[in-house]
Amino acid sequence: MKGTLKKFTGWILVLVLALVPLSACSNSGETNSSSEGSASKEETLDIFSWWTGAGEEDGLNALIDLFKEEYPDIEVENAAVAGGAGTNAKAVLASRMQGDDPPATFQVHGGSELNDGWVVADKMETLNDLYESEGWGDKFPEDLIDLVSKDGDIYSVPVNIHRGNVLWYNTSVFEENGVEPPATFDEFFAAADQLQEAGVTPLALGDKEPWTATHLFETALLGTLGADDYKKLFTGEMSFSDPKVKEAAENFKKMLSYVNEDHSSRNWQDASQLVADGEAAMNVMGDWAKGYFVNDLNLKVKEDFGWVATPGTDSMFMVITDTFGLPKGVSNPEDVKKFLSVLGSVEGQDAFNPLKGSIPARVDADLSNYDEYGKETIEDFKNASLAPSLAHGSAAPEGFVTKVNQAINIFVTQQDADQFISSLEDASGDLK
Ligand code: GAL
Repeated sequence: MKGTLKKFTGWILVLVLALVPLSACSNSGETNSSSEGSASKEETLDIFSWWTGAGEEDGLNALIDLFKEEYPDIEVENAAVAGGAGTNAKAVLASRMQGDDPPATFQVHGGSELNDGWVVADKMETLNDLYESEGWGDKFPEDLIDLVSKDGDIYSVPVNIHRGNVLWYNTSVFEENGVEPPATFDEFFAAADQLQEAGVTPLALGDKEPWTATHLFETALLGTLGADDYKKLFTGEMSFSDPKVKEAAENFKKMLSYVNEDHSSRNWQDASQLVADGEAAMNVMGDWAKGYFVNDLNLKVKEDFGWVATPGTDSMFMVITDTFGLPKGVSNPEDVKKFLSVLGSVEGQDAFNPLKGSIPARVDADLSNYDEYGKETIEDFKNASLAPSLAHGSAAPEGFVTKVNQAINIFVTQQDADQFISSLEDASGDLK
């Protein structure tokens, strides 16, 4: 344990130094405080996430409002740090945890990010008693409980399930160009050629934050390998030198040949915006993009934009789950549990998810709150082969994900598949 802790401490430091750009420092100073009155910092319930601004914070605010209605005497601070997929927040969190200044509760992806990260570092309290007192044992899918458990103990509460393998398209652009939603890579490439000939950017990408390219790559990996082999990559049962991984890299490379020229200066919202405006036809992004389309850009589901699973992943579901837990050493653990009980309630999930774009983690949410996309995705989740997201921390430890992000960043500019595969193989030493 001591050895693991030491190793963990080491990479936390590396991560903090490597990942906190100057901009994050100012972001962290600009937390979205929604606290009122003069409660001391000790008593304040600071909720740490990266849900700020466009397409990200509406759901969180709805959840906080619900909590405040139920517990008006507890001061809440929305301590979000801007940056998609936790680009800056994760480093700020690491430094707070390192300095024994944990937030009351923080956003963490179920799977490796929670279990091999904070739980192994002995930074989290177990929540078995909360699950028992709330009667949650059968209220979350077993697969999800597994993602937030280690050695039989439960460490966090999932607020949602996001689907990562979604290809969004502008319906008018498709109609005007006589393009059908593609299901396979071949269909995707044919559609992309047709769009390109018509002068439309086929695929929007915004990889100013490199995780979006990793996100695109993991969907290519899933679509090329299938869910079983994809999972084997992270358990060590399949090597990154397998020819199928090379094939996935080639598919990814070909997809990159259809993206907007200014991809490296855009973030995910800017890329989604290209599709919304009809300047690009398609975009691969998790369904937080739906929250952005509908709640920020006022687009209509199915009328203005449509969706299909990314090429080759029709009956598969790339799972991303945002969860919140109870860090060790907080001064108000009972208040944190009250917040978690609201977050895990049907009302909490139904306040949050319709705005966030995700589906509820609970199995008994009220379907009438969800639009056509939500209803369809709830059904798909029940029937699909599930695969944990790499880009969003479920499949593999943070150290590995960081190296993959770097390798992908290089691949996007240099496009050398052999070099890319060998970087992935090198990084795979970080997988247990
Ligand atoms: C993911 C997270 C989502 C969304 C997205 C973009 O990692 O799970 O909830 O925030 O990043 O920022």
